[in-house]
Amino acid sequence: MQAAICYYSGSGNTELACEYLAQRIEAVPFDLVDITESDQPDLEPYDVVGFATFTDFFAPPQRFQTFLTSLSPQKGDYAFVFNTYGSFSGKTLKVLADLAAARGYRIMLGHSLHTPESYPPLNALGITSESAPKPRELDAFEEFVERLTTKIETLQAGGEPEIEGVKLKLFQRLMPALPRTTSQTLMGDKHVDAQRCTECGTCVAVCPYEAIHLNPKPVFDEARCYGCWACYNHCPEQAIHTTRYRDVGHYATPNAELQEKLAG
Ligand SMILES: Cc1cc2nc3c(=O)[nH]c(=O)nc-3n(C[C@H](O)[C@H](O)[C@H](O)COP(=O)(O)O)c2cc1C
Repeated sequence: MQAAICYYSGSGNTELACEYLAQRIEAVPFDLVDITESDQPDLEPYDVVGFATFTDFFAPPQRFQTFLTSLSPQKGDYAFVFNTYGSFSGKTLKVLADLAAARGYRIMLGHSLHTPESYPPLNALGITSESAPKPRELDAFEEFVERLTTKIETLQAGGEPEIEGVKLKLFQRLMPALPRTTSQTLMGDKHVDAQRCTECGTCVAVCPYEAIHLNPKPVFDEARCYGCWACYNHCPEQAIHTTRYRDVGHYATPNAELQEKLAG
């Protein structure tokens, strides 16, 4: 048997959690597929596929939703869904499950893991969730790992795992869907500090919406920008800023505490 996790991670929290999952579930070898590097991966060889990303305005990022909706239709392959979130996961897990189910996957189960906050405006306010996940949240994650392992072992033994699907709590179900433009509107215009910018191209490489090119400094295509803050978070010189946020709230990689918790 073979398994894969297709993931999209802005700052590495989700990627780290996927690595942890792959390491902990010894029953089957996992391939980790970064969908920003492989947009149309061949998922045919896999018996189980995971779809994992982070919460972006209470839903999966547009980039990952586009990936899921463009997947080739399946005939009932087994899947699971997973997301990390910094404050409130909203409908993320359910949207992931519904989009994967619409492509023909059978969603065995799903889990949302509380992790440090990567959204700069919240970090700037001191809302960082820097110690997430708390012990009980880690326990719940561990329980998810065990339930997933059991289902994979059932499949290996030729059985049919129970399809639990994904359930949201009432307050999550009541969350309104936000317009696609919310994130970009709140981010507002981006600017480049010409003194700091070294024209290294990191912003171009990390932008998942192909909204930046160099000329020779970064130029932003506001119509393509989704407001994901990847350019702001990842610029090694912190040369990219917005009208309201500068030199504050960056989250480029998983913090040391999370790395330690998910060291495996
Ligand atoms: C643009 C943006 C929007 C976000 N929106 C939410 C949100 O609505 N709810 C939430 O709990 N976390 C939100 N977050 C925080 C991330 O979901 C969280 O920090 C996650 O662990 C980041 O995962 P990553 O490191 O794999 O990108 C947002 C982060 C960004 C960058």
